Amino acid sequence: MNAIKKNFLPVRILAIESSCDETAAAVLENGRVLLSSVIASQIEIHQQYGGVFPEVASRQHVRTVYSIVDMALQQAHMSLDNMDAVAVTRGPGLAGSLVVGMNMAKGIALGKRLPLIGVNHLESHIYSAWLYQDETPNPPEPPEFPILALLVSGGHTELIIMKDHLVYQRLGGTLDDAAGEAFDKIARLFGLAYPGGPSIQNAAQTGNKNGFNFPRAKLEGSWDFSFSGVKTSVLRTVRDLEKSGRPLPIFDLAASFQESVVDILFQKTIQAAKEFKVKNIIVAGGVSANQSLRERFMSQKEFPVFIPPLKYCTDNAAMVAAAGYYRFVYGKTDSLDIDVLPTWPLTYTS
Ligand code: KG4
Ligand code: ZN
Repeated sequence: MNAIKKNFLPVRILAIESSCDETAAAVLENGRVLLSSVIASQIEIHQQYGGVFPEVASRQHVRTVYSIVDMALQQAHMSLDNMDAVAVTRGPGLAGSLVVGMNMAKGIALGKRLPLIGVNHLESHIYSAWLYQDETPNPPEPPEFPILALLVSGGHTELIIMKDHLVYQRLGGTLDDAAGEAFDKIARLFGLAYPGGPSIQNAAQTGNKNGFNFPRAKLEGSWDFSFSGVKTSVLRTVRDLEKSGRPLPIFDLAASFQESVVDILFQKTIQAAKEFKVKNIIVAGGVSANQSLRERFMSQKEFPVFIPPLKYCTDNAAMVAAAGYYRFVYGKTDSLDIDVLPTWPLTYTS
């Protein structure tokens, strides 16, 4: 695929993310150099509900989006006049939340006559592997194609092959819960705080990962995942322990659960990387913040693995700007009448 604006430097993208419960904005130069990234998390607001309350989320985005965009520009020491395009998460995500970021982006695009770029949230997570900070002395090499991306978040668990920029081939995905969703549900069962991933990780730190042997669904012959077996097994174990009147060994349960999810994700990803002879693996999305998962991938030597720094694993706008940049240079801009796409799959190639 030929980039139509290869020599047009520098390209600065302002990006907005509001697909779920984070309002975020970022300024990125030339697809990789991060000038600013600001995130307003709503976690404390949603903790009382034990998960994201969609209507509350969208109204909170309305309150914060303007100041977050303003802050991102200020931190980059730039104004809208220095921007070449505005990128925004178009989907998948919560409809009411997506609309807030989309309308902000359209307002800026209209007012400043900037191209608008609607970005897929899943491709944004993958493109977080290209980011680095402005002040980085030796910029890291970008990932090399063909790439296998394991995208693990609260809403998705997908294996995707990328043969080039913006070209995606979905190998498989979860047949039931997303990995992050399983973490969130099991944390709730243990009485731990939302979001469940970090809570389980903390509890697991002092636990014995071999304390319980939870199942690892292999789903031989497919690139799909399933977490319902491990989830049900944890639930049954907890119910049995409760019936026996013994105190719940939460730390051991958390460590054993986490180990089984890491095994499931790691084994299938490495198997796919071998089968498809990829050069690099990218692990991205909220669950890629998990320390055990990171260590497991980094400790194998067969494939160079890109896992974004912790702050770019969970939702942010820096990754939207990175994906938006590649859409921009390949001429994939959008008109001002696009709608949000709450269930937009990442199955297209371009
Ligand atoms: O990417 P993200 O911020 O939002 C979605 O696009 O879904 O991912 C959020 C998910 C939540 O399910 C959260 O529990 C999980 O990522 N997560 C983690 C960790 N940090 C966040 N899961 C396991 N270990 C973590 N350290
Ligand atoms: Zn996400």
